[in-house]
Amino acid sequence: MEILKFAMLNFGNMAESLFIPKTVDRKKIYDELAPQISALVEVETDLVANLANITAALKESFEFFWVGFYIKKENQLVLSVFQGTIACTRIDFDKGVCGHCYTTKKIVIVPNVDEFPGHIVCSSASKSEIVLPVFDKHGNVAMVLDVDSDKLDDFNETDAEGLQKIVKIIEDLIVKLDK
Ligand code: SME
Repeated sequence: MEILKFAMLNFGNMAESLFIPKTVDRKKIYDELAPQISALVEVETDLVANLANITAALKESFEFFWVGFYIKKENQLVLSVFQGTIACTRIDFDKGVCGHCYTTKKIVIVPNVDEFPGHIVCSSASKSEIVLPVFDKHGNVAMVLDVDSDKLDDFNETDAEGLQKIVKIIEDLIVKLDK
């Protein structure tokens, strides 16, 4: 009886599940996903809760190996919410792909992580990577979105454009929440 009561109490607070088109066309998936993520974060004011759902949505939609955020704290990037295997907790601004993204303020696509000078190995299963900067209202990088694949050369312009739409949602959210 207690279990049933608990389940019923929580039912009203459950999020809708995602609609993910059954296709290998990533552009179509990004196009469907962006408005759903927008709607998801619209009703929640906690930044961490929203970032957590965004990592889950990306991992579920594309079966990426690792999806997560590193947030700028003082003079480092610090691991925040993610989906995937355990990862390095702190990255200096000039280190690794994430640090390179932070410093250059540009999207970085790495087709083969073994060929990127200074790549930080959190998991040997990670083969290619894309990292996007997320800007605050002052134009400073507030965090980076890091997506890893266990396949070589798995990211291209389609991912950069698709993920940039998600990043824009986060940037608008940061402004709204005044973070
Ligand atoms: N490979 C990243 C570090 C983070 S993990 O991949 C999760 C980098 O070189 O910055």
